[in-house]
Amino acid sequence: MEMNNRKLGLFILAVLFAGLNIAHAQTEINIDLQKKGIKTSKDLYGIFFEEINHSGDGGLYSEMVKNRDFETVNIPQNSMWGGNIMMTRAGWKERKWFGNELDGWEMVADGETKGDISLQKENSLNIKNPHYLELEVLEMGKKTGLVNNGYWGMHFKNSSVYLLSFYAQTSDNEVFDVNIALQNTDGSKTFSKSEIKNVGGNWKRYEVKLKTKGESIHGRLFLSINKPGRINFDVVSLFPEDTYNKRPNGLRADLVEMLKQLQPSFLRFPGGAIVGGMNLDNRIQWKNSIGDIAQRKGTANLWGYYTTNGLGYHEYLLMCEDLNVDGLWVCNPGFSDNWRNPEFAQPEELQNYINEAMDALEYALGPVDSEWGKKRAENGHPEPFNLLKYIEIGNEASGDVYKKNYKLFCDAIKAKYPTIKIISNLNKIENAPVEIVDHHKYGTPTQFFKDFYRYDEEDRNGPNIYVGEYGCKIGVGEGNLMAALSEAVYLMGLERNSDIVTMSSYAPLFFNVNDIQWEVNMIGFDNHGVFGRSSFYAHKMLAENRADIMLDSEQIPLVDGKHGKEQSIYSIAGYDEEANEIVIKVVNRSSEKSKVQFNLKGVKTYDENIQVITLQNDEPTQENSITFPHRIVPGETNFRASGNNFTYDILPYSFTVLRLNLNR
Ligand code: AHR
Repeated sequence: MEMNNRKLGLFILAVLFAGLNIAHAQTEINIDLQKKGIKTSKDLYGIFFEEINHSGDGGLYSEMVKNRDFETVNIPQNSMWGGNIMMTRAGWKERKWFGNELDGWEMVADGETKGDISLQKENSLNIKNPHYLELEVLEMGKKTGLVNNGYWGMHFKNSSVYLLSFYAQTSDNEVFDVNIALQNTDGSKTFSKSEIKNVGGNWKRYEVKLKTKGESIHGRLFLSINKPGRINFDVVSLFPEDTYNKRPNGLRADLVEMLKQLQPSFLRFPGGAIVGGMNLDNRIQWKNSIGDIAQRKGTANLWGYYTTNGLGYHEYLLMCEDLNVDGLWVCNPGFSDNWRNPEFAQPEELQNYINEAMDALEYALGPVDSEWGKKRAENGHPEPFNLLKYIEIGNEASGDVYKKNYKLFCDAIKAKYPTIKIISNLNKIENAPVEIVDHHKYGTPTQFFKDFYRYDEEDRNGPNIYVGEYGCKIGVGEGNLMAALSEAVYLMGLERNSDIVTMSSYAPLFFNVNDIQWEVNMIGFDNHGVFGRSSFYAHKMLAENRADIMLDSEQIPLVDGKHGKEQSIYSIAGYDEEANEIVIKVVNRSSEKSKVQFNLKGVKTYDENIQVITLQNDEPTQENSITFPHRIVPGETNFRASGNNFTYDILPYSFTVLRLNLNR
C-alpha cells in the first residue's frame, strides 16, 4: 500500500522518536515469552505472627482490659529476682520489666473515700490464676472504685456493644451492687453504664452488655461498689462485640483486614524466639492457651511484657480458617531459646516435649473421639483444622542437641501424620530427612539488594527453603522506602528462585506504636488506627502480582556487572496464566529516573493500555506513620505502548509492576 506524504512524514517521525527513545534508554530489558522458566511457588508469600511489640495483647487480640487476670507479677519458674534483674538458672538475665504488681489498675478514691486495692492470692480463682485484686473500702466518698485504662487508653466507638465480664468473690456471703461504666480517662464523660446486683459469695462469673452513646480514644473502664466492704475481682474482661467475624474472644477487625491485603498463603505462629522462651518454663506452652480465658495461664514474655495467652492456639487455627491460609505451627524442640543461655530438657523429660507437639497436632487434626480432638470440639470446633499443613521444630536452634531431638520429633510426627510437612532449622541432619529448612535474614539495604542473587546458585537437590524471617532493619530508621525497595529486590530474587525457595514471611508483622521492642516492623497501630509501612505495600504488590511462570528475561547493561554495587535497576518478568498477562517487576534504587527499554520476543500482540502500579517517593528516607499513614502507597495508572519495543521511565526510588494483557 502506498503511503501519502503526510503519513510518510508521521512514520519517519515515529521511527526517529522510537530511535531517540532507544538511544536514550539507560537499561534494556529483554523478555522472551517463548522461553518459560520455573513455575513459581504458590506458597511464596506468607505471614509470621509473634507476640512482640504488643502484636497480640494490646493489638490483634481485642481484649481491652490490661492485666485482666492480675498475673503480671509472675516470673518464669526456676528463675530468681536480684534487684531489678531476673535471672534464669542457666544464667540468662532480663530486666525486671514485668513485675509491676497491679499493672493497668488504679483505685479511684475521690472525696471522703477511704480504702485500698491490693494484690492477693490466699483464695485463688484457680491454680492457673493464683492472683486477684482485693478492693477494700472503709468509707465511701464521692467516687469509689477501680479503673483500667486498657492498653494506652480504650477506644469506644459510638453506638457499639461491649461485653464486660468478671469473676468476683466475697467473704461471709456479703453482697454488693457493682456499677460498671465506660468513660473517658478523667471520668467526666460516661458513654455507657450498667449495674449488676447481688455480687458476692463464692467465686462466680458475671457479665453484662453495654451499648455506647458517644465515642472516645481515651477511654477507661470504671467499676464501683455501692457500700463499704471488701470484694475480690479476677479475670475482668471487656471485648467489643464487633470483632473479626464477630467471634467471641476474637480479633481486631481492622488489623485482620490488613493481613488479608497481603494475600498470604500461610500463617506461622507463635514465633520466633518466644517459642523457646527465657527458660523452659517460659516457652510457649500451647495447652495454657486454649479454652475458657479464666483457665489460661499467662506468660511474662521475653519481649518484656506480660501476655495473657488469650490469642492462643485455638484462636490461631481459627485465624487460619478466617484468612483461608495454611497453618504453620512452631513447636519447642526440648530446649529454650538458643540465643538466651538455653536450658535443656533432661533426657528422661524429652518425651514430654515430643508429646506436647504431638498433642498439638492431635488438637488440630485428630478425630473428635481422640483426647485432644475432643477438647477442640469442646472449644467449639468439632471439625479438624485440616489446614494445619506444616510444623517447624524449634526456632533458630542449632547444635548437637537440636540434631538429636529433631530426629526424635520427626520420627514421632511422621509415624502418625505422614503428610504434614516438617520444617527444620538446619539444612542437613544425619539420619533424618530435611524437607524444608528455615533461613532467617535481617540486615541493611545494601545486603538485601545484593541478595537478589543469593539463591541463584543454590543446590537444587537440597531441601526446599523457607525464608521464615526477614526484614531490612539496619540503617533505615524505623523503616523507610529504601528498606522496602531492598526487600522488594530480595523477594524478586526469591520469586525467580521459587522452585527451591518455596516460602517466605516478613518479621515482625505488627507493632503497637506505644511499645516497640524491635527496630523495624511491618504494620503499626494504636488503639484506633492502623497503617502499613512502605514494606507492607511492597509486599502487597508482590503477593498480588506473583507470576505463575518465570520468563527468560535479561537486563542490559547491568551497570557494573552482575554483582556490582552500583546496580540501580533490578527486574524480573513472569507470566500470569489465568490473566494471560506478562508481569514485569522493576526496582530503581537510584535518585535518577531511568529510561528503560523493554524488548519483547514471542509476543504477537497485547492490549496497548499497560497497567502500571508504582510505589515511589523522591525521598527514600520517607516513611508512613500513624499520623501520616499514606505518604508512600502504590499508585495505579495506564501507559500506552505497542510493538515489541517500548520505553518507560522508571521513577527514582521506585518499585514498579507493569502488566501486559495478551488477550487482545
Ligand atoms: O522477629 C523477631 C525475632 O528475630 C524472632 O523472635 C527471632 O526468631 C529472631 O531472632
